[in-house]
Amino acid sequence: MKRFFSILLLAASVALFGGCIRDGSAPEEETELFVVGFSQSGSESDWRLANTDSMIETFTEDKGYELVVENAMQQQDNQIAAVRSFILEGVDLIVLAPAMEEGWDTVLNEVYDAGIPVIIMDRSVNVGNNSLYLSNVGSDFLGQGNKAVEWLDEQTAGEELKILHLQGTYGTTAQLLRSQALEDGVASHDNWEFAGQICGDFTEAKGYEIMTEFLEENTDFNVLYSENDNMTFGAIRALDEAGITYGEGGQVKIITFDATSAALQLCFDGKVDLCVECNPLQGPRVEELICQYRNGEDIPKQVYIEEALFTKDDLTQEIIDGRTY
Ligand code: AHR
Repeated sequence: MKRFFSILLLAASVALFGGCIRDGSAPEEETELFVVGFSQSGSESDWRLANTDSMIETFTEDKGYELVVENAMQQQDNQIAAVRSFILEGVDLIVLAPAMEEGWDTVLNEVYDAGIPVIIMDRSVNVGNNSLYLSNVGSDFLGQGNKAVEWLDEQTAGEELKILHLQGTYGTTAQLLRSQALEDGVASHDNWEFAGQICGDFTEAKGYEIMTEFLEENTDFNVLYSENDNMTFGAIRALDEAGITYGEGGQVKIITFDATSAALQLCFDGKVDLCVECNPLQGPRVEELICQYRNGEDIPKQVYIEEALFTKDDLTQEIIDGRTY
């Protein structure tokens, strides 16, 4: 049927229908692989690499899938081109991890007209017609930001806060909603103000660069709210070079998003005050939705992945060593 047609001989113990039916009673039989076109937005962070790995580990041939991965390197044009190539190839389903929220109407209408179902993963798209996709599975980015703001409020009640806000790539859901939570927090506290809002594009290199530049002008802040771990790692290098203390007993409290093992280790070591989890291991949840879809079941339009907060008190070395990313 498709360019990717291939034959699998399935033994009786192997699930029929792409791993979706698991009664173990399938006779030896020929079937096609279910082809998933996966448009990943980039590889800017440890989170993103773990997210790509989760998809690759989930959608394996022995479960009846062929996964076609296209990395857009943070360029929306590349992503749109990848989605169009999936249409031409006639994939069975598209998983889109969109870089930006806006700008998807045209190409998603093309996918819709081609009759290919779409699952949006990680961030969201803002389109005029939500029936252009089956489901959006990902993080509650506003919830993450709100939890961070509540924590900060509890920890610093009454203190004057000067907050340096390191933002992710503008126009991405992760940036828009984490920023919204903090901006609302600042607006509702007379004793909170921004020392600065600067964009580090979710990368360690940019985090280091903009933090270094910022510190040349201003070192008068006592909170760093950094919208991902990689920017935090870069910022910490710049703080070290500038001789500014942070973490337990330091001048600057650090809040970071993702909770990768390296960030949790910094938290355990007293260098970071709060890790807000953003779980990249979304492949299995996407697969469940695909199975539901293929079995003709109703699919929830929005699925949030469960996520936690970590301070030093919540951590043990075992928890950190158990983190795979
Ligand atoms: O969309 C998820 C965010 O994007 C993660 O916080 C960040 O690390 C990634 O680049």
